[in-house]
Amino acid sequence: MAKKSKAKTALNSPTAAAGKGKSWQARIGEAQDALAVEFVESLSFDYRLAKHDILGSVAHATMLHSVGLLSKADLAAIKKGLDAILRDIQSGKFHCDVTQEDIHMAVEGELIKRIGEPGRRLHTGRSRNDQVALDIRLWCREAIGILLGKVSDLQRALVKMAAEQGHWPMPSFTHLQRAQPIVAGHEMLAYCEMLERDKQRLEDCLKRVNVSPLGAGAVGGTTLPIDRHKAAKLLGMPTVTDNSLDSISDRDFLCELAFDLSMIAMHLSRWAEQWILYVTTEFGFMKIGDAFTTGSSMMPQKRNPDMLELIRGKTGGVYGQLVALLTMMKGQPLAYNRDMQEDKRSIFFAYDQVEACLTMAAAIVLHTTVLPEQIAGRLDEGFSDATVFAEYLVQKGVAFRTAHHIVGSLVAECEKRGLTGLSQLELEVMQEKSAAIGENVYGCLGAARVVKAYRSHGAGGTKSLKVQLAKWKRVLKG
Ligand code: ARG
Repeated sequence: MAKKSKAKTALNSPTAAAGKGKSWQARIGEAQDALAVEFVESLSFDYRLAKHDILGSVAHATMLHSVGLLSKADLAAIKKGLDAILRDIQSGKFHCDVTQEDIHMAVEGELIKRIGEPGRRLHTGRSRNDQVALDIRLWCREAIGILLGKVSDLQRALVKMAAEQGHWPMPSFTHLQRAQPIVAGHEMLAYCEMLERDKQRLEDCLKRVNVSPLGAGAVGGTTLPIDRHKAAKLLGMPTVTDNSLDSISDRDFLCELAFDLSMIAMHLSRWAEQWILYVTTEFGFMKIGDAFTTGSSMMPQKRNPDMLELIRGKTGGVYGQLVALLTMMKGQPLAYNRDMQEDKRSIFFAYDQVEACLTMAAAIVLHTTVLPEQIAGRLDEGFSDATVFAEYLVQKGVAFRTAHHIVGSLVAECEKRGLTGLSQLELEVMQEKSAAIGENVYGCLGAARVVKAYRSHGAGGTKSLKVQLAKWKRVLKG
């Protein structure tokens, strides 16, 4: 599904058969203008729904037989015919052209061509309006399943990196200024948390996706005794929609999915930006495997993080599809309008980008090395142990605000004297600011000691890393 179907390559020239006329044109009795045919078609992109369309049709036909609207022999012929068409589509042997307008017409037309009369009975009690609404839901269901797997793969890569290289101390940042020391794995697992919420959002979206609109018909339902619940059950959908107007005009679930994709893209983009900084000479915190960087045509020394930049760069396009879908929907009166045909372009594009970015992100994570020596070289610059110093004073009974002030003045003293770390100050100088400071303060200072001292749940230190790794091993074992 994710890959472009071979059906596209089998598409003939859009104008080749223009003027042939369609099944629903019997009343109008006129061939269409070639330009109009080309303009209105969706086959060039909705061929990706072929599998889902056939799945829906098999369920529909089975239901029609169960309520006595289709004979056993007709059902058998339809199933066999659709099966063969699906195989031909998958092997690239199915030839259709855009005069068939969309995948629904192309498949049904082919079925009629192959099996005759029974094929003409398939469209009983349904319309393309509920058919397309069903197909895109089935596609979304499959897409969500793939996305959930890919997000988990990326989480697994991050957990592996955190377990193998996560114990090294490094600075954390707020306002991109050095803040408190943490262990490197704490960052990797921060992304795991974001991705976990992304999965939860997808799972929640799936609840609204996995509802069957089939049988809502063109707009008002049907007088035929169809059993919508039965068809839904055959499709593995736990419920059916309850209002035929809403069934064919609802694309909320697509907007939701586009939002969920946008959120994943945003998280990936933030991660990409972080690592783009980390692989610079200025940071030098990590190195990405050569296979995931590019060189420069002029500067022989270059190792550019193009893959990360593309992950960041594609985010805008994904957001764009969310805005496109919301805007496409906002002016539409009930119920089906042709505007909605464009929904597929948007969701396919957003999905393709995010799916590719997730795959690339996992590969990059698996080929990236933390550079502990480079980090360690300047680790204690930036007074990132100042908070721990203040907490040392709190444990001696000093009020935190007072402690904050004392340590602030010691940092100023260091800066005045050109010292880069609080531990470089003599004890007497410290004691001038507070008598509560004892010799043992040196045992608290320095990033390497700080990361071992964190106690609170979810903190950035060694103990918390162990707890978090155990959690992720549990969560991701499936
Ligand atoms: N190709 C159309 C779409 O994607 C299918 C539904 C067309 N229905 C109609 N009444 N014209 O939305």
